Amino acid sequence: MKTVIEGLKERIIRGTVTVPGDKSITHRAIILGSIARGESNIHNFLDGLDCKNTMVCMQSLGVQIEKVNPSLLRIIGVGLHGLQASQDVLDVGNSGTTMRLLSGLLSGQNFCSEIDGDDSIRKRPMKRIIEPLSLMNAQIKGLFNVHFAPLNIIGSPLRGIDYTLPVASAQVKSALLLAGLYASGETIVREPEVTRDHTERMLELMQGDIHVCPDHKVRIRSGENLTGTDIHIPGDISSAAYFLAAGCAKEGAEIVVKNVGINPTRVGFLDVLMKMGASVELLNKKNVSNEPRADIRIKGALLRGILIDKEMIASVIDELPLVAVVATQAKGETIIQDARELRVKETDRIKAIVDGLSRMGAKIIERNDGFEVFGPVDLRGSTVNSYNDHRIAMSLAIAASYAEGKTVIQETQCMDVSYPEFMQAYSEITKKLIE
Ligand code: S3P
Repeated sequence: MKTVIEGLKERIIRGTVTVPGDKSITHRAIILGSIARGESNIHNFLDGLDCKNTMVCMQSLGVQIEKVNPSLLRIIGVGLHGLQASQDVLDVGNSGTTMRLLSGLLSGQNFCSEIDGDDSIRKRPMKRIIEPLSLMNAQIKGLFNVHFAPLNIIGSPLRGIDYTLPVASAQVKSALLLAGLYASGETIVREPEVTRDHTERMLELMQGDIHVCPDHKVRIRSGENLTGTDIHIPGDISSAAYFLAAGCAKEGAEIVVKNVGINPTRVGFLDVLMKMGASVELLNKKNVSNEPRADIRIKGALLRGILIDKEMIASVIDELPLVAVVATQAKGETIIQDARELRVKETDRIKAIVDGLSRMGAKIIERNDGFEVFGPVDLRGSTVNSYNDHRIAMSLAIAASYAEGKTVIQETQCMDVSYPEFMQAYSEITKKLIE
């Protein structure tokens, strides 16, 4: 499927948007709700392909999960030891989060599992989970190639470890915490930079034996006492980011995105926009289901280029392609470094965004660990490719809104992975918002 977008270059946009539930939190709610005791009601869950894959995997493992209405999932938790072997290969589709979190969960079961995904998943590095899980005594390996999916997992008795992550990754941390629920003794995970902490927060909410210590350290012990609960999921800040980006570089533009998760480990994009000179306000702040949320109001401004490096990368990792788009409209140079992880996402996101924006006339240079963008430039509509990566597709749609003329984005079906209604919301707000 391809999507054609007309540029909005000369127009000022204003309006209010609501975005779907957070993807990372939805995955965790489905997984933890499944192994808790009792019922969990998951409100405002993300009904995108990645989370559907997590749901189907948990159903294949014997959990009853029902979509009560478009925004409510009901899970009848089976308890820590109530999962059953799946009759089929567990298919995670495009979802790295499902693959890595379930690998941790399945390592400690008393049955065997096979877990696989699409072509992109088969290329993504699994050594980062296989190594530490093996230290916990997990029996896990790739079927064709030791460190890549499909993975074969022979459930085994696990032991706790004290492990320092070589790469900052919330997926790896979460895989180890889930395995830690089944391990003897204590599991300690230390991270080089703070990464998203939704697993820790939800385990706390469900009364798990977890302790978040200072200096980037988390400790978990096994226990029988995860308790099912009501979880209200905030809007996904990674989805909100597209609309904030559409408004931020136009003087006179003003956008409010309602009810968005503002977990401190996820708000890097807001920090980036503020550093570049946009005005960002958080309104109606509250804490719900152990996650902070707010309405985000952004006012467009003339932006300036900035340097984004190690300390900020983890909190803005999924928005970095979008930062490149915004940087084309900022005065001066924006440098993104220490972001090598972008090369092993759903696609090589450094290559993909450099390719797409270059075709639209941006001055962008690829680096090994990121990119450099020189602005401002007048983008021009062009034919570009998403490389079948949802975040690249949506970032290019925002680039198209800044461009003159028509942009054709190829392979846009992938938007369904995290935001199936994106184009609808995009055309509604651009229609509504144009003055
Ligand atoms: C995620 C963690 C991040 C992020 C991904 C979702 C999660 O990946 O890029 O989109 O839900 O834990 P890494 O853990 O590989 O950095």
